[in-house]
Amino acid sequence: MSGVPKKPAVATVADRAAVPVWDWPVRAVHWAMVACLVVLVASGLRKGDAMAVHMRAGEVLLALVLFRILWGFAGSGNARFASFLRGPRAAARYLRSRLRPPHEVHITHNPVGGWMVILLLAAMLAQATLGLYSNDDVFWDGPLASTIAKETSDFLSAIHRRFAWVVVGLAAVHILAVLVYLFAFRENLIRPMIVGSKRLPAGFGTPEAARASSAKAIALLILCGAVVWWIVRKTPAVA
Ligand code: HEM
Ligand code: HEM
Repeated sequence: MSGVPKKPAVATVADRAAVPVWDWPVRAVHWAMVACLVVLVASGLRKGDAMAVHMRAGEVLLALVLFRILWGFAGSGNARFASFLRGPRAAARYLRSRLRPPHEVHITHNPVGGWMVILLLAAMLAQATLGLYSNDDVFWDGPLASTIAKETSDFLSAIHRRFAWVVVGLAAVHILAVLVYLFAFRENLIRPMIVGSKRLPAGFGTPEAARASSAKAIALLILCGAVVWWIVRKTPAVA
């Protein structure tokens, strides 16, 4: 079921009720990705022995991102990309409605936020993939670095070092946007990402759209973990 009404909906803050919007895998994976990113940046900058943690956290993040991409096709209605990805016109209309009330209400990601989600996932996927082929010229080789020429690995390492700041920049913009909603628009998006439900105007959203099969989520998580494990164990990481 689509998480966004066909017509842009307009609502006041009155008559709102708590409706489940985010299934548990979306929430758990979101906060796990946040934790991984913090560990990755800290350990990447620290280098030395911290690189062992860096590579493990990078592999976990890769599995989480792969899971979220699959969940975007197989998850609950609200988790599916098709339910929140909209074209540029919808994005422009949403931005206009933010500037001039009444505001459009979106059950999950708004049309601009939806594209930010894709950007964040794509950037993390690219960065983690680059990491697999990186080396630090001293002790640490990404698990796939030995499968390519040293010069190519050096080149990808240089991109990995710089692109880390693109990922951090996108995350910063994302966090800033969430804070703008909280303080400027008085809309708390953080709580739903923790507890799963959101206060929505009457008639918006159905609990079914946030319902997901736990067995399917766990099976997909194991599958993504296994795929990453298989990729990184193909060649031993050299310390
Ligand atoms: C630091 C790294 C972070 C990354 C990479 C990140 C990534 C993401 C992604 C991919 C989504 C989409 C969720 C989905 O549909 O599965 C999302 C949504 C969200 N994130 Fe983050 N996030 C980060 C940090 C944070 C922090 C620190 C907060 C809280 C202050 C936060 C609050 C939220 C909220 C509230 C949403 C839902 C937005 C909405 O309702 O449209 N995120 N984030
Ligand atoms: C989104 C995920 C990742 C982020 C944000 C990230 C971030 C970083 C950062 C900040 C550095 C240090 C850059 C510097 O020297 O200034 C670094 C270096 C490195 N990372 Fe990652 N990393 C990620 C994933 C991975 C993965 C999955 C692996 C391998 C399994 C990996 C392997 C390495 C290696 C080998 C280096 C040393 C490269 C060098 O010194 O040139 N990274 N990473």
